[in-house]
Amino acid sequence: MKGLILSGGKGTRLRPLTYTSAKQLVPVANKPVLFYTIENLVEAGISEIGIVVGDTAAEVKTAVGSGEKWNAKITYIQQEAPLGLAHAVKISHEFLGDDQFVMYLGDNMLEQSIRPLVEDFKTGKCNCQILLKEVTNPQSYGVAVLAGDRVVKLVEKPADPPSNLALVGVYMFDHNIFTAVNEIKPSWRGELEITDAIQYLVTNGYNVKPFVVEGWWVDTGKQADMLEVNRLILDRLERNVSCYVDKDSRVEGKVVIEQSAEIINSVVRGPTIIGRGCRIINSYVGPYTSINHNCTISDSEVEHSIILENSQIHDIPSRIEDSLIGRNVVVEKSPIKPKALKLLLGDNSRVGIL
Ligand code: DAU
Repeated sequence: MKGLILSGGKGTRLRPLTYTSAKQLVPVANKPVLFYTIENLVEAGISEIGIVVGDTAAEVKTAVGSGEKWNAKITYIQQEAPLGLAHAVKISHEFLGDDQFVMYLGDNMLEQSIRPLVEDFKTGKCNCQILLKEVTNPQSYGVAVLAGDRVVKLVEKPADPPSNLALVGVYMFDHNIFTAVNEIKPSWRGELEITDAIQYLVTNGYNVKPFVVEGWWVDTGKQADMLEVNRLILDRLERNVSCYVDKDSRVEGKVVIEQSAEIINSVVRGPTIIGRGCRIINSYVGPYTSINHNCTISDSEVEHSIILENSQIHDIPSRIEDSLIGRNVVVEKSPIKPKALKLLLGDNSRVGIL
């Protein structure tokens, strides 16, 4: 059985971060979302993995490489434009051959292991297996209607959802999906929808099996979702503090701090992760914060936030909360008169001022 991870697309809802970086590489607890998807496939016994890449191909290839660190063999499949999830399947035919495969959207994170589902699918009792989760906003997803354990209907992002069961971005297919992706037509948004391809399987009598997942599932497309999944992952941390902590500092609870970081006259309260080369000086880092490599925080307070590498926060009088801060960002109190807010913000930035 093979794996197919989709890591193309545009990532418009996470701009400005995704102007300079693939959305699948935004880190959760200091690890790119995409790495969790690779780990989940490998844990399920799938080591032959294709990754569909788009405009950010170079960056994805640099981050993932040949797959060696997961004992996986990665093949990259270039998609010329984000023409839809079913289009991504279509262009991956040569890599997939006639094997069964798991398609995993590179921005989806799932709590539960997919191993039991993969084992079940391998027995060949059905042609397709879909994962579903009850949600409060089904209009944002593909939605399925069930009759008992039978799939009756699937519809992509319906204005008037016929159920609250969203399609999770993990699918299992056999070779019949290629007939389906070749038959369907682009949707109103100009994409070849995988939802329509699965509807084709249902309509034409193929066996599509639904499975409602129990643990959490997050589609990390938006800031609030990133912060939520960061919280969920940090909750699983086991304390490991190997860095220098001076005698005036306190490091409390489930905290991971890499060895080359320094904590000086500060309080760090977990669950929190702090990467290598970071310096936390005269500051407070509160629960559910991920601070990536080589950041400096001085005379400031940060909580429930994600900060990417090489950023600096200095001398900020109010606590920073619920924030997603990109790479190489500087947030500081300006010493230059007149006393005013001085901003240099990228397109689509959002700033909340007290
Ligand atoms: O997250 C689950 C949802 O994912 C499902 O409920 C929907 O039925 C399904 O259509 C999909 O909806 P999204 O609008 O969230 O898909 P998005 O455009 O965000 O793409 C999902 C992933 O696939 C993302 O990592 C980018 C990648 N992708 C997307 C497209 C359109 C590609 O690699 N190629 C593409 O052509």
